[in-house]
Amino acid sequence: MAAEIKSDKVDKVISLCVRRGILFPNSEIYGSFAGFFDYGPVGVELKRNVEASWWKRFVQEREDVVGMDGAIITHPAVWKASGHVDAFADLLVECTKCKGRYRADHLLESVLGVQVDGLPPEKIKADMEEKKIVCPKCKGSLAPARAFNLMFKTFVGAAEDESSQAFLRPETAQLIFADFKAVMLASRKVPPFGIAQVGKSFRNEISPRNFVFRCREFSQMEVEYFVPPRLLDSCRYFEAAKGKKIQVLTAADQEKNAPQSKTTAGDARDKKIIGTQWHAYWLAECVDWFEGIGIAPENLRLRQHTKSELSHYSSETWDVEYLYPWGWKELTGVANRGDFDLKQHSKFSGKDLSYFDQETKQKLVPHVIEPSFGVERAVFTLLLEAFEEKKEKGTDGKEEVKTVLRLHPAIAPVKAGVFPLMKKDGLAEKAREVFEMLRGDFVCEYDEGGSVGKRYARMDEIGTPYCVTVDYDSLEKNDVTVRDRDSAKQVRVPIAKLPNVLSALLGGTLAFEKAGAAVK
Ligand code: GLY
Repeated sequence: MAAEIKSDKVDKVISLCVRRGILFPNSEIYGSFAGFFDYGPVGVELKRNVEASWWKRFVQEREDVVGMDGAIITHPAVWKASGHVDAFADLLVECTKCKGRYRADHLLESVLGVQVDGLPPEKIKADMEEKKIVCPKCKGSLAPARAFNLMFKTFVGAAEDESSQAFLRPETAQLIFADFKAVMLASRKVPPFGIAQVGKSFRNEISPRNFVFRCREFSQMEVEYFVPPRLLDSCRYFEAAKGKKIQVLTAADQEKNAPQSKTTAGDARDKKIIGTQWHAYWLAECVDWFEGIGIAPENLRLRQHTKSELSHYSSETWDVEYLYPWGWKELTGVANRGDFDLKQHSKFSGKDLSYFDQETKQKLVPHVIEPSFGVERAVFTLLLEAFEEKKEKGTDGKEEVKTVLRLHPAIAPVKAGVFPLMKKDGLAEKAREVFEMLRGDFVCEYDEGGSVGKRYARMDEIGTPYCVTVDYDSLEKNDVTVRDRDSAKQVRVPIAKLPNVLSALLGGTLAFEKAGAAVK
């Protein structure tokens, strides 16, 4: 993603992120540290909820996927075998005068105003020279572009030399490949089955930019799904998934400048648009998960990587793209990694990473379909999708613009705000009782500051689906009002029933209108 992400909506979401402690640049008191971000109190809940939803869907609810949690620093031989030492690089150009450093493809793109995604390095190098691109800062001449490896280096042990050099992992995937045999044996699984991991990865981006879209430290959620080669086109779940509606943009469409088309996972496979059933199935699963946590179907499409874009390990990759305010861009990638990684690790470690296939009575190296998600990208995309501004008349009759994050309840950082209408007359004490009752089961926030309208607005802004208010009637009737974020309607609910009602509302099994007596 090279184009600058500029839009009014993006600026507003970024400013909300900073103002409400969702996500902000790291070390701001020292002028911040490019490419690193910190989550605040609201953001950390959101991030955990996104990861938990993913883990539940792709690991806990499945019999055929198990989890693991590998080390961030691993044996350096892993990265030699994976190809990252030799091939995980971007082209770097340096100004001979001011020593400014730039990513060659980004510079080319910003100077020429064209998309260069997927251009091979030789072509970028040649174009840089042919177009006589100079330093954007001082107009000095640029030295020839050279490959810059994106892995962060560190040293393990007391000697700080080449013999002790190690790397921070640039993807979680390789930990899964290196542990494939151990996890398979321990979990008594045989392919087709998957191993999943959620955790930090690190890439020393030459020019981190576009908020969290290109950061140097980020979290990934990855499944490596191992399939015997003979079953690649025989997915046992395909019957249930084949009707999933998707939008696809093939590599051929891109060559012809044709738009994406609407189809289903089943049709895309039947027409050989997507290479194998397992690949089509995992793409449908990714789309379905995003839709399930609040992304509108029309904002998602599947785009096939063109030949020149494919990573060194992939024979076929599709991105799940989102329609950002600045255009369609990658949200998630699903690659067919073939048997590249396990074969490489067998070769470099000297260990047999095949398994005995009972049906063919053969030793096999499984192939891999890899759905790979970036957490920060997912979080920011969900925020963009949920962000809305609405105009309301304030108490003084003037029109005010209010922000609402229409986040899906499953990922909303705070599930309920709990307020006393006033601090006095025992309302605060009663509201605190309600808060204490709820907080063991739900992430709640107690707020008694300012007008109740202001408190609703503060909760809307961070996407809290429900607000519970204790008023004077509550003292007599032992009930509360529950306000729905999206409709701003209210119902009265007995306090004794509140945990069950809230749970059903959040789980989507109870319509708000049926949750209690409507407040007129
Ligand atoms: N494992 C694939 C990636 O990190 O892009």
